[in-house]
Amino acid sequence: MGHDASAANNSNGSQKNGSPKHIAIIMDGNGRWANERGLPRAKGHEQGAATVRRVTENCARRGVEELTLFAFSMENWKRPEKEVRFLMRLLERFLVRERKEIQKNGLRFRAIGRLDALPDSVRRELDTTVRESASNTGMVLRLALNYGGRGEIVDAVKRIAEEVRRGDLDPAAVDEAALSARMYDTSMSAPDLLIRTAGEYRISNFLLWHLSYSEIHVSNRCWPEFSDEDLDAAIRSYEGRIRKFGALEPTRC
Ligand code: FPP
Repeated sequence: MGHDASAANNSNGSQKNGSPKHIAIIMDGNGRWANERGLPRAKGHEQGAATVRRVTENCARRGVEELTLFAFSMENWKRPEKEVRFLMRLLERFLVRERKEIQKNGLRFRAIGRLDALPDSVRRELDTTVRESASNTGMVLRLALNYGGRGEIVDAVKRIAEEVRRGDLDPAAVDEAALSARMYDTSMSAPDLLIRTAGEYRISNFLLWHLSYSEIHVSNRCWPEFSDEDLDAAIRSYEGRIRKFGALEPTRC
C-alpha cells in the first residue's frame, strides 16, 4: 500500500503533504442536478460522464498517479431497472468513446468490483480497454463497478480461507499484508484524498479497506457541475493538512 503509516513519513510518523498521488471520488448528485433543472435523471448521468472525462484529464495533467472513481455500487442494482440499464449503456458507450483518449494520454485503465456480474457487453469493453492500455505508463484510471467495500473484504477473506483449506497458507501468516495482497487490484495504493460531491458526509461502502487514513473532502457541488476550481479547492484543502497516521504532530513531540 502506498502511503500507509510505514511509508514516506517523518521519524515521528507524521507527514507533510505534497499533492495527492491517489485521489478517490464518490461521484454523487447526478439525480439532484437533473431534478433541479427539471430534467430526467438520465441527463444527470450523461452530464456526470462528461465530468468524468474532464476530471480525468485534469488529474492526469496535474501528475496525479491514480484516480479511482465509484461508478456503480453493489447497492445500485436496487434502482429501477430502466436506470440500471441506462447506466450500463452509458458505461459501455463511455468505454468505446474514450478508449482512443485513454491511449492518447497514456492512461492505464483498470476496474475493480464483482465484474463477473456485469452485462457481457460491458465486460467485453472493460476487458478490451484494460488490455489495450496495460502497457501505458501514465495515470491509472480505475473504475469501481458493482463494487462494495465489505464485499471486497469478504472476497479477500474467502480467497484466504480457500488457500488455508488447500494447505497453501498458514493461518498464523494471515496479517494485514496478506489481506491487502488479496484485494481486487493489488497494485492500488491507499488513496491520499477522498472527495465526495453533493454535500453528503458518508463513505457509502467505498474502499473500506483502503480509506483508513485517507483525507476526506466533501464538496457541496453535484457531480455533473464539479468544476476544475472545485478540484483545485479539494487538492488545496488536502495540501494544507498534516497527516499523522496515529502519531503526534512534530511540534507536540
Ligand atoms: C450518483 O448520482 C452517481 C452514480 C449512480 C454513479 C456515477 C455515475 C456516473 C458519473 C455516470 C457515468 C459514469 C461513467 C464512468 C461513464 P445519483 O444518481 O446517486 O444522484 P442523486 O443522489 O442526486 O440521486
